[in-house]
Amino acid sequence: MTLKSTRIDLPEAHRAQVSALLNDVAITLTDLYVQTKLAHWNVRGPHFIAYHELFDAVASHVQDALDSIAERAVTLGSTGGSPVGEVAEKSPLEPWPITDRQDHRVIRLLSDRLAVAANQIRVVITKTADLDADSSDLFTEISRQLDKDLWFLEAHQE
Ligand SMILES: [Fe+2]
Repeated sequence: MTLKSTRIDLPEAHRAQVSALLNDVAITLTDLYVQTKLAHWNVRGPHFIAYHELFDAVASHVQDALDSIAERAVTLGSTGGSPVGEVAEKSPLEPWPITDRQDHRVIRLLSDRLAVAANQIRVVITKTADLDADSSDLFTEISRQLDKDLWFLEAHQE
């Protein structure tokens, strides 16, 4: 992809590599956002209200992270985000089993998917560190939040 020109003085090759990584993560976060909302809407069981509210808090963190990631890609001269068809094709997350609604299973399914995203982002912190310190820092911030959200989910499962 041809990048837009910018006064940001990072080499174009670095901007291109980092934008590709940002948009890979944006695909995962777009899918994770929808899946977290599906969990929020469809969960049932004795823990309904706690899980319903917890999942919405997680969805809001994921949405904020996605917005920052996509906007960083655009800042670097690329496009930001992907259409849903491309998200469905490229997301590393397992599809959401919408009919599986029991609270203790829903929280486990969501934890599995959140962990895939959190661990993918941990890898790109290092990959971008020498290419664009700002994107690496953004990934670090998001990684810390997703790890904390994962702790919240896991803490409900003992
Ligand atoms: Fe809601």
